[in-house]
Amino acid sequence: ATGLGQLAAAKGKYFGTALANNHLGESAYATVADREFNSVTPENEMKWDATEPSRGSFNYTGGDAIVSHAQAHGQSVRGHTLVWHSQLPSWVSNGGFNSSTLTSIMQNHISNVAGHYQGKLYAWDVVNEAFNDDGSRRQSVFQTTIGDSYIATAFQAARAADPSAKLYYNDYNIEGVNSKSTAVYNMVKAFKQQGVPIDGVGFQAHFILGQIPSDLQANLQRFADLGVDVALTEVDVRMQTPADSTKLATQSSNYNTLTKACLNVTRCVGITVWGVTDKYSWVPDVFSGYGAPLLFDDNYNSKPAYTGVSNAF
Ligand code: XIL
Repeated sequence: ATGLGQLAAAKGKYFGTALANNHLGESAYATVADREFNSVTPENEMKWDATEPSRGSFNYTGGDAIVSHAQAHGQSVRGHTLVWHSQLPSWVSNGGFNSSTLTSIMQNHISNVAGHYQGKLYAWDVVNEAFNDDGSRRQSVFQTTIGDSYIATAFQAARAADPSAKLYYNDYNIEGVNSKSTAVYNMVKAFKQQGVPIDGVGFQAHFILGQIPSDLQANLQRFADLGVDVALTEVDVRMQTPADSTKLATQSSNYNTLTKACLNVTRCVGITVWGVTDKYSWVPDVFSGYGAPLLFDDNYNSKPAYTGVSNAF
């Protein structure tokens, strides 16, 4: 890559984007993605509903297309995600399985999917969003059926299936020091003590304009000090639409701050923004009234936020 990927590589890090297969046929989308980014995360293509839509029936079409595109353009790939309560087919969430059966289903899913991509991925988000904001465990079907141990079991299965992928726990609202991040911190600390194979923590970093936690860098550093890599994995900075020059300037400053936070932490390996262009961001679909969270506008013109990032390097 040239662009941000090259700037990051010069500092020993990567700068990535979420990539969606269904947009790769749009030449401007692919052009910007391949010019700017040296890492990609499939936005939806490796999730459980895509890879095992019915029990024991695996589909790698979308994920394979992302991987081959990435390989052709010198981009590393972060696999996303093996165990998550969302985009989980109802045959899993409503199957009424007991603990040992659901454990086998989860292990089988991980062994097949991570096994299929073995040796091709830089990292896996093994478990996604397992905690609530108050630090308690989210009551997903995995938690309520198997209990706390499902997370360690998932990491062990992932290590067995792909020994070369870095194994991450990934979540949102853990960017600053708070009840949720401290619960994750305590889990990671325990995993390191117990020998559970975890290599990194992904901080999604779905931020609101003007609300980057002031202790972002310190929080990344406290996790790094446990002996894991850290990464900003799904960055966007949403604003109430329409955008104006004042908001875009604040956004630029916010992107500058978050980029510097990663650059200042040796074990922060890279930053991934959650999409190439505002046009296809997930934000307006999920956060009513918000949008314009990324580095390129609807017409693929770079925004002030782009300069905020590049100036940080
Ligand atoms: C989002 C995708 O961007 C959307 O296209 C999809 O409809 C829903 O999921 N946290 C995650 C990501 O870990 O996988 C989510 O991606 C955004 C929130």
